[in-house]
Amino acid sequence: MEIEKRVNGKTKLIGVIGNPIEHTMSPQLQNTIFSAIGENCIYVPFHIEKDDLEDAVKGFKALNAVGFNITVPFKKDIMKYLDEISDKAVIIDAVNTVKISNGRLTGYNTDAEGFSRAFKSESNLDFKDKKVILIGAGGAACSVAVQLVMEGAKSVGIINRTVSKAESIASKINKNFGFKIECYKPDDSRASEAFKQADIIVNATSVGMYPETENMPISTVYSFSEGQIVFDLVYKPQKTMFLKKAGDAGCKIINGTGMLFHQAVLQMKSGRAKD
Ligand code: ATR
Repeated sequence: MEIEKRVNGKTKLIGVIGNPIEHTMSPQLQNTIFSAIGENCIYVPFHIEKDDLEDAVKGFKALNAVGFNITVPFKKDIMKYLDEISDKAVIIDAVNTVKISNGRLTGYNTDAEGFSRAFKSESNLDFKDKKVILIGAGGAACSVAVQLVMEGAKSVGIINRTVSKAESIASKINKNFGFKIECYKPDDSRASEAFKQADIIVNATSVGMYPETENMPISTVYSFSEGQIVFDLVYKPQKTMFLKKAGDAGCKIINGTGMLFHQAVLQMKSGRAKD
């Protein structure tokens, strides 16, 4: 049902906060899903200043919102205002979903699970015993690394221009799971060899995203092997230069749209009242 027909005195609020927030596609996505499944919720974006974060959280609580989502740059700062945080979000050190129930705020991270669901539904495979190379070492890469290890990947290697950031993900994972991640600088010859041998390659940097669509997250020294599964977290454009090259080399390619969708569905499930 369309929003103007279904918003009434019983409508539940779910917010999304960020700075900036104007570019977000989440409200269209979430409100379309609410309309389709007949859930009486409305999803509204809010541009918040850093100093107002605590007040915003209190505001959602006072307004009896069922929850809210968090985007850049508050995924970490939000954690200090919550009553409880899921184990996975603690390891990833970022919360993108808060559920409010009986006045208590619980934080979750749905990025990792969204990645896993998108990968499985588009490849019909899972991560068990796979050799994986991850490019990038930001928040998105950390979510992906945690999920890969939790789901039984055989090996995970991270290539990042700032190798210390890769090492900090590796040490977190080692501490929590006793799993050793290899970290490489982009010019390390071991990195290009591991890249060639990998079953799955994931770009978790934003390189290649619109408008800089000619850029690649790795140099031309790296070569894809036929049959590899190559996943780019970028969804705009749908086919980055990285995916084009992988496709030309005979790889199965997956873009970031499915992850965006699956993590949004998971956010909706953890944020809404009756689940
Ligand atoms: P997010 O939280 O969305 O993952 P982020 O924390 O800014 O975003 O991380 C972006 C990742 O992309 C980082 O690993 C970054 O590399 P550095 O750790 O060296 O900063 C990587 N990245 C961004 N621009 C890049 C570029 N032009 N070339 C290579 N890597 C890049």
